[in-house]
Amino acid sequence: MILVTGGAGFIGSNFVLDWIAQSDEALINLDKLTYAGNLENLASLKNHPHHIFVQGDIADRNLVSQLLEQYQPRAVINFAAESHVDRSIHGPADFIQTNVLGTFNLLESVREYWQSLDDAKRLQFRFLHVSTDEVYGSLQAHEPAFTEQHMYQPNSPYAATKASSDHLVRAWHHTYQLPVLTTNCSNNYGPFHFPEKLIPLMIINALAGKPLPIYGDGQQIRDWLYVKDHCSAIRTVLAQGKVGETYNIGGCNEQANIEVVKMICSILDELQPRADGRSYQTQISFVADRPGHDKRYAIDASKIRHDLAWLPKETFASGLEKTIRWYLAHPDWIEHVTSGSYRDWIKQHYQNESGV
Ligand code: NAD
Ligand code: TYD
Repeated sequence: MILVTGGAGFIGSNFVLDWIAQSDEALINLDKLTYAGNLENLASLKNHPHHIFVQGDIADRNLVSQLLEQYQPRAVINFAAESHVDRSIHGPADFIQTNVLGTFNLLESVREYWQSLDDAKRLQFRFLHVSTDEVYGSLQAHEPAFTEQHMYQPNSPYAATKASSDHLVRAWHHTYQLPVLTTNCSNNYGPFHFPEKLIPLMIINALAGKPLPIYGDGQQIRDWLYVKDHCSAIRTVLAQGKVGETYNIGGCNEQANIEVVKMICSILDELQPRADGRSYQTQISFVADRPGHDKRYAIDASKIRHDLAWLPKETFASGLEKTIRWYLAHPDWIEHVTSGSYRDWIKQHYQNESGV
């Protein structure tokens, strides 16, 4: 049994689906169901005996302690976070609450549980904290990619709160010997990505005939990784990672935003041409830049490659096409997310299940 937090979000739900498909081990999924949590992502697991969903907050020590006591997981994987940079600029308070205080409370509940285990289980237990490359700040064009030794220089409220959570996790290992692992990953894309983020927003706006808003000059660079590759890296770190270590995860896929949007347009031009025969690129619109916009992120993933033999499966071209095909095949999911009706899913489909 493992406990996953934030398993109804973008990466968490991909992780949960892959885990259940590939393992016989049951999973408790603790998620607060903020705007970013969508149980519709997990509709295929309804009534699955290996998926126990509990709506709740990582900061709720009583609830977390009760779950740990009841299910005795061998590992906790912490995906739960406020994760959207633009939202953190407009309202940082929720980010402090979940990413800093929530992680602190989760660590304390987990520490208490871990200390109560017998020697064999204590030795086997792992707390895996899922973090981001944004804690390292921004790179200039000529600078080498982020290694695990790179100084923490977070620039947005989101990145600062994730950096803070990483420090707490590190300290809980150093001070209390909690067996932690931390992963810092680059930008993910793929199925179930909430359409406030660049790639899904562009796909959905393009199909809806709306403008494709590019911040500033569109020359900012992100290092994109297909979400299923991130999930496989997390499984690898959980199974083989060395306690107390940090692993950078990335796909060696640096792309300028404008190029990403042009690629999306070209794939859509092929798969679902506009009625007037013109390219979706005609919908591109340059808008005001994000305040404090980080110029470039790039991950040096050589440690996980050398030490744990992990490699991504998708190239950016193959992953992006898969992603676009997924959105084209799921108009209902898009409609429910854009109309907000996904928030009713829990009432309609999970009313009688425990914990909800
Ligand atoms: P997301 O915003 O899509 O999902 C976050 C999930 O956490 C949601 O289901 C939400 O309901 C839940 N949640 C929020 N606050 C909670 C709380 N207090 N208690 C319990 N659940 C809570 O985020 P994501 O993109 O899936 O990212 C998951 C993790 O991976 C985050 O920690 C993020 O920092 C990290 N990460 C994301 C990316 C990326 O590109 N998306 C890249 C690297 C790292
Ligand atoms: P985003 O998906 O929000 O991820 P992050 O800020 O965590 O990197 O944004 C990815 C890049 O795309 C980032 O440089 C901001 C840019 N962007 C746009 O140009 N237009 C948009 O509408 C959005 C949402 C993002």
